[in-house]
Amino acid sequence: MQGASHPLIVRAKGAILYDEEGHRYLDGISSWWVNLHGHAHPYISTKIAAQAERLDQVTFADFTHAPAIDLAERLLSLLPGAFSKVFYSDNGSTAVEVALKIALQFWYNGDPKTPRKNIVCMKNSFHGETFGAMSASGRQVLHRPFWSHLFEVETIDPPLKGQEKRSLSQLHDILHKGRTACFIFEPLILGSGGMIIYPPEGLDHLIQACRQHGVLTIADEVMTGFGRTGTLFVCEQFQTTPDFICLSKALTGGFLPLGATVCTEAVYSAFLGDNLQKALLHGHSYTANPLACASALANLDLLLQDSCRQQRMQIAASHEAFCRRWRAHPRLKRCESLGTILALEYLTEETSYFQPIRNRLFRFFFEKGVYLRPLGNVLYVMPPYCIQEDELQLIYSLIAQTLEDGI
Ligand SMILES: Cc1ncc(COP(=O)(O)O)c(C=O)c1O
Repeated sequence: MQGASHPLIVRAKGAILYDEEGHRYLDGISSWWVNLHGHAHPYISTKIAAQAERLDQVTFADFTHAPAIDLAERLLSLLPGAFSKVFYSDNGSTAVEVALKIALQFWYNGDPKTPRKNIVCMKNSFHGETFGAMSASGRQVLHRPFWSHLFEVETIDPPLKGQEKRSLSQLHDILHKGRTACFIFEPLILGSGGMIIYPPEGLDHLIQACRQHGVLTIADEVMTGFGRTGTLFVCEQFQTTPDFICLSKALTGGFLPLGATVCTEAVYSAFLGDNLQKALLHGHSYTANPLACASALANLDLLLQDSCRQQRMQIAASHEAFCRRWRAHPRLKRCESLGTILALEYLTEETSYFQPIRNRLFRFFFEKGVYLRPLGNVLYVMPPYCIQEDELQLIYSLIAQTLEDGI
């Protein structure tokens, strides 16, 4: 909070946030990647209001309801592979926690005395803020004060272009020990760890290796889901589909918090039976909240419209053109895009979340009415799909100014 003067936002429309003094802020990061179709979208708000008049909330432990059933069915029909069950929670971190707990209990249910316990993740990954999710993020600098409280995991290097063999051999060394319960990953892009983009083929091989060793695989699509990277879900780009997909953030179009952990029938069956101790005894008060589910259904209606696909393609093409123009700039270490995500790394002594350039960049854009939130010396743009071309061009021209004039 030191030095912070947070504007008081009173309303928002499309890609623009308005504060109490009438200042406008172009939301270049979809309010932390949740807002897909623009703020206060009337279609989604109408659907939520209609649902609120029918059913607001009911415990999901003993009841079910239409929005939750419809949403599960629609998600399952859209996801690749043979997923069969959806477990609802509240946010991205809980979607990950649930996947980790299911994966660990899967092995415990099979053999309570000597279950497989190890979790494998990628260096520099980020899976959330709760203790399990923090542990499964390796050792993120953001979580340093808690490192001594996190459980042990095994890490491999992400399969960056040209380094796929190294990751695979690191994974093989771990898998051969026979103790691995699951492998969790952010597919195609390590988000909060620095927007590091990598191609799908290497990851496909990692998933296949896990499958050969019977190790469960968890794709954390909390950031990448719902069209961010080009396909609706990154997992569509793999030959081998994982055993779990974690979803949240844009799931409701940015209106309400909701998490979903999707798994296969084989995983589900390991929990079903007369023995209550084998059940997954995990629930949140707001599990499958009907308003959040209604919001997610409305989000999917909009997402599947052809006009939305066109918007995503337009943003992706504009990002690519920007990269072609600026990639070789001497002040940049990296400039690349993945679908609607643009990532630039400013040349600094080292890449770090704590680089002072972060605050200079943040302030520069903020004063110009553009909301971007650099991760240290890594700047990214991840706009709502409704963003207009002139709004995108404004962002690009300001970035160009930081490169040409220095910051
Ligand atoms: C890949 C990934 N997983 C999980 C999370 C945690 O989501 P939430 O902030 O909703 O807890 C994030 C958040 O940035 C994320 O990027």
